[in-house]
Amino acid sequence: MSDQEYRIQDEDLIRDDITAYLRKHETKDLLRLLTCGSVDDGKSTMIGRLLYDAKMIYEDQLAAVTRDSKIHGTTDGDFDPALLTDGLKAEREQGITIDVAYRYFSTDRRKFIIADCPGHEQYTRNMATGASTADLAIILIDARHGVVTQTKRHSFICSLLGIKHVAVAINKLDLVDWSEEIYDRIRDEYNAFVSRLGFADIHFFPICALHGDNVVDSSKNLPWYDGATLLHHMESVNIASDRNLIDMRFPVQYVLRPNLDFRGFSGTVASGVVRAGDTVMSLPSRQKSRVKSVLLGEDVINEAFAPMAVTLTLEDEIDVSRGDMLAPVNNMPTIGNEIEAMVVWMHDTPAQQGRSYLFKQTTSMVPGVLTDLRYKMDVNNLRKEAGEADSLELNEFGRCHITLHRPIAFDPYDRNRATGSFIIIDRVTNVTVGAGMIIDRVVREDPVGPKSKNIAEARGTIHRQDRETMLGQRGHTVWLTGLSGSGKSTIAYEVERQLTAAGRLCIVLDGDNVRHGLNRDLGFSADDRTENIRRIAEVARLMNSTGIIAITSFISPYIKDRQDAREIIGAEHFMEVHIDTSIEVCEARDPKGLYKKVRAGEIPQFTGITDPYEAPDSPELKLATESLSAEDCARAVVALLDDGGVLGGDDQ
Ligand code: ADX
Repeated sequence: MSDQEYRIQDEDLIRDDITAYLRKHETKDLLRLLTCGSVDDGKSTMIGRLLYDAKMIYEDQLAAVTRDSKIHGTTDGDFDPALLTDGLKAEREQGITIDVAYRYFSTDRRKFIIADCPGHEQYTRNMATGASTADLAIILIDARHGVVTQTKRHSFICSLLGIKHVAVAINKLDLVDWSEEIYDRIRDEYNAFVSRLGFADIHFFPICALHGDNVVDSSKNLPWYDGATLLHHMESVNIASDRNLIDMRFPVQYVLRPNLDFRGFSGTVASGVVRAGDTVMSLPSRQKSRVKSVLLGEDVINEAFAPMAVTLTLEDEIDVSRGDMLAPVNNMPTIGNEIEAMVVWMHDTPAQQGRSYLFKQTTSMVPGVLTDLRYKMDVNNLRKEAGEADSLELNEFGRCHITLHRPIAFDPYDRNRATGSFIIIDRVTNVTVGAGMIIDRVVREDPVGPKSKNIAEARGTIHRQDRETMLGQRGHTVWLTGLSGSGKSTIAYEVERQLTAAGRLCIVLDGDNVRHGLNRDLGFSADDRTENIRRIAEVARLMNSTGIIAITSFISPYIKDRQDAREIIGAEHFMEVHIDTSIEVCEARDPKGLYKKVRAGEIPQFTGITDPYEAPDSPELKLATESLSAEDCARAVVALLDDGGVLGGDDQ
C-alpha cells in the first residue's frame, strides 16, 4: 500500500469508525533506533529534520527555532533543524548529565523511539545504553569524509550489542554536488568493511539532512536514486522476526503473596511465549511445576510474550524466589557460574583482573570475579589486540572470563539479548562500571575420549567382583567436599583409621598431597581445579576397581566437577559428603595460616573469599563440624558405608 492510500484509509476510518482508528494506532508497532555519528556528521540536524518533516513539532517550538535560527543557526538565518534537538547542549552546559536522550515520535505506520547518544568521550557507555534495546542503527557518514574510524567503531559496537538492521545515511551530499560516484564509493567501502559484522540487513540512503533531501520526502536533487527515503525505510523495515519467540524465559521480579491462597510470580517475559499448562522448571532450584494461570493485572489471559509484564501462578508449591528464572523443561538456558563474555568498560577506573564486582543479569544480582581478561579488542580494525591484558580502560572492549559466586541461568547474547547480557557494578560505590554480553559457556578443551584415535581398551580375566569378594568389601569412593580448613583431612584420616581398625582396605587421597605429585602442574584457576578433580576421580575409580575404598579430601568447589566425578566413578560407587563448616569458622581455625595470607593479599582466588564455593544441594551426608567431633563425623561416614553394603553386608 502506498503512503497515500494508507492515509486515505485512515481518513475513512476517522470518519466512519473512530474506535477502529484509535485501536489501529494504539497497536502500531514500535521501532527503537539508535543514531550514531561523529561530532559534525549532522546527527542533530538529521533527527531535527525527521521530527520536522514528519510534522512532529509543536507550533511554538517551531516559532522558537525559526527565531533562533536567525541568531544562533549555522544556516545563514535559514531554518536550522539542529536547533530542535540541541536543547540538550544547554542542559549539558549546566552540568546536568544526560547520557542518552530518548525522543518519541510516531507516523501513521509506526511509533519510534530514537536514542540519541552524545558523541563525547564516554560514547561507548552511551552507545551501550542506547543500543542494547535498539532494532535499527542509523549510521551517519559525512559524504566529504567517507568511512572514518568512528564509523567503524560505531558499527562494531552496534553489531556487538546485537543490532540486526543498519541504515547508512550518507549525509551532506549537497556539499559534493549530489555525486552518485561518491555515494557509490562510500557504499562499497562500507560494505567491504562491514561484511564480517553479521548484520541481517544494511541499506544506504543518500541524504541532505539540512535541507531535507531524502529524509522524509524524496528529492529532485537525486535523480539517479530511486530507492526509499530514510523515513520510509524506518517505517517498513521488518523487525518482527528479530523477536525471540522460541526460548521462554521468565526472570522473577517479585513473589506476590497477598494471602495464603495465592502465590504468584511477577516479572517481564524476557523472551518466548508462556501459556497455562506449560511445564516449567524453576532455576536454579530445578524444581518442576506447571503454569496454572497467566495474569495480566487481574485478568486471566491465554498467553504472554516478551516484553509483557505478567504474573504467573504455578500448580505446585515449589521453590521460586526473586532473581530466579522460570524456563520450559525441554528448552533450558545454561546454568552455571563460569561465564565467557565480551565486556565494555564504562568507567574511569579501569577493570582489573582478579577483582570482585557485582553482576546484575535480568533480575538477579550476584557477586563474582573478573577471573581472566583474555584479550582486548581493537575496535578500529575488529582484531584481537596481541598479548595478555590485565586491565580494561574506559571505552575499551575485552573478552573476559568471569567466575560468579552463585550459578545463574543464561543464554548466549546472540540468541537472547535479555538473558545474555549483564551489567557490572562496583561493590563499594554501587556505580555501573561495565556491561557484558555472554558469548557462551566455557568450552572445556579436554578431549572426552583419548587424544589419539589409535587407542583401544585392554581387558584381563580378573573382574572387579573377584577382587571385591577376595577383600570382603566393595570398592567405593567417599567424596569429601568443603572449604579449606573445614576439617576434611582430619575427618578423612579418622575414617581411614576407623575402617582400618575394622579390617578394611582403604586410602585417603588428599588435595595437599596430590598437588605435590600427580597434580603438581595444577594451580587454582577454575580450569586447573576442574582438571584436579577429574584426575582424582580417575584415580579413585582405579582404586575402587581393585576393591579399595577411596576417601577423597578436596575442596572441589564446583557442583559440575563433582557431578562429573560421580559419573566417572559410577554413581553406585560414589558418596558425596559435605563437610559443612562456615567460612567464618574456617577462617578462625586457619590451620595452615592461609586465610591470614589471603587477607594480606598474598593469595588470589582463594575459595570462599575471592573464589566461589558451590555447596552440594543434596549430598548423601552433611556433617556439621561445628557441633560434632571428628570421631563422630567419621562414625557417621562409616555407618553410611555399612548401610550401603560397602563393608561386606548381607548381600556380599
Ligand atoms: S581444589 O579447589 O582444587 O579442590 P584442593 O582441595 O586440591 O583444591 O586443594 C586445596 C588446598 O590447597 C587447601 O586446603 C589449601 O591448603 C591449599 N590452597 C592453596 N592455595 C589455595 C587457594 N587459592 N584456594 C584453595 N586452596 C588453596
